[in-house]
Amino acid sequence: MKVGIIGSGAMGSGIAQVAAQSGHDVVLIDTSQGALDNSRAKLAKVLARLVEKGKIDETTGKAIQSRISYSENHADLTGAGLVIEAIVERLDVKQSVFQSVENYVDDNCILATNTSSLSVAAIAAACKLPSRVLGIHFFNPAPLMPLVEIVPCVQTDPAILKSAEALISSWKKVTVIAKDTPGFIVNRVARPFYGEALRMYEEGYGDFATIDHAMREIGGFRMGPFQLMDFIGNDVNYAVTESVFAAFYYDPRYKPSFTQKRHAEAGWLGKKSGRGYYDYAEGAVTPVVDTSNQAQLDYIVSRILVMLINEAADALYLNIASKEDIDLAMTKGVNYPKGLLQWADEKGIQNCVDALDNLYDEYREDRYRCSPLLRKMAKSGERFF
Ligand SMILES: NC(=O)c1ccc[n+]([C@@H]2O[C@H](COP(=O)([O-])OP(=O)(O)OC[C@H]3O[C@@H](n4cnc5c(N)ncnc54)[C@H](O)[C@@H]3O)[C@@H](O)[C@H]2O)c1
Repeated sequence: MKVGIIGSGAMGSGIAQVAAQSGHDVVLIDTSQGALDNSRAKLAKVLARLVEKGKIDETTGKAIQSRISYSENHADLTGAGLVIEAIVERLDVKQSVFQSVENYVDDNCILATNTSSLSVAAIAAACKLPSRVLGIHFFNPAPLMPLVEIVPCVQTDPAILKSAEALISSWKKVTVIAKDTPGFIVNRVARPFYGEALRMYEEGYGDFATIDHAMREIGGFRMGPFQLMDFIGNDVNYAVTESVFAAFYYDPRYKPSFTQKRHAEAGWLGKKSGRGYYDYAEGAVTPVVDTSNQAQLDYIVSRILVMLINEAADALYLNIASKEDIDLAMTKGVNYPKGLLQWADEKGIQNCVDALDNLYDEYREDRYRCSPLLRKMAKSGERFF
């Protein structure tokens, strides 16, 4: 089956590689010839490295490259069975691209968007055949990250959902199904990892390095929140937070932080700009972590963790995804050491409710309201698994 990818930036190039590695002929489309040239050069480099490491042989590398063609013309999508759009994150631009694509593909071609934050229903609504549209949300870098969120919108035909899920699974990806709501699973449930860390920093519970240390060494997370924000880029992470906050009608649970806003405004974007919460200049001094106060470190971890658990429980309560998919999404999409709902079982549901109620009593902020699901489960003595 021929696969069309529109947008040859970070995501589109990665998705094209995944599709070509899975044996598809791929046409990669971009409005910018420069972006197409970059994408072709980057893929050649990536494949050469895989050959060098012995992960693939030279013939396979060449075959993958030869399966991808590069074009500025939507007419080259003719005959595709699936088109995935990964262009700039703007609804009007995405809608007009989908409308144009429909002029060239058959009625049975699946149209997918890789959007992280826009409404899939709104994109589908611009199409002649909205029932063939859905979200197929890869994580960056697409060739390495195992998780893909499949996002049917209200218009999506269930048969299209099934075919898309089967196809992406055949690309050796772990698929989860998420409701068409802001942030889907991962970008919604992960908000407190950043937000509560920033809040605790602002309240003086610890500096960046101390909070990161606690989350890594006690929490078992691969990266601390500030380290991860520096890796993602404070501009990008802040923009996602702001858009999720607005999309949830300004629910205080998702409130962005001035600390991050100022870092982004200062150009302290993280690794990519050489400075973020940490200094990445050569010879920069590594901050020293004061590990003497164990209670403080434990408090940091348990507060962020219980806020994450609350978010995961609410996602289940609101039918954003199944409990299995919520746990799978966080372990495969952002490498959490454990599924959050499984973690809630281990901590004890009543303990989670008590911790959230303590925070709520202390702050009197809606941000700390306990999910009705956790409260109900604590009453009846239920567990998630
Ligand atoms: N970067 C991430 O971590 C990430 C992760 C998951 C999803 N996404 C989503 O994937 C999409 C692309 O993100 P990205 O990071 O790859 O962006 P990017 O800026 O790296 O690439 C976007 C590409 O789209 C091209 N483009 C813009 N308008 C176009 C048009 N009308 N027709 C064809 N090409 C056009 C640009 O020239 C550019 O090459 C966005 O919707 C984003 O929300 C991004």
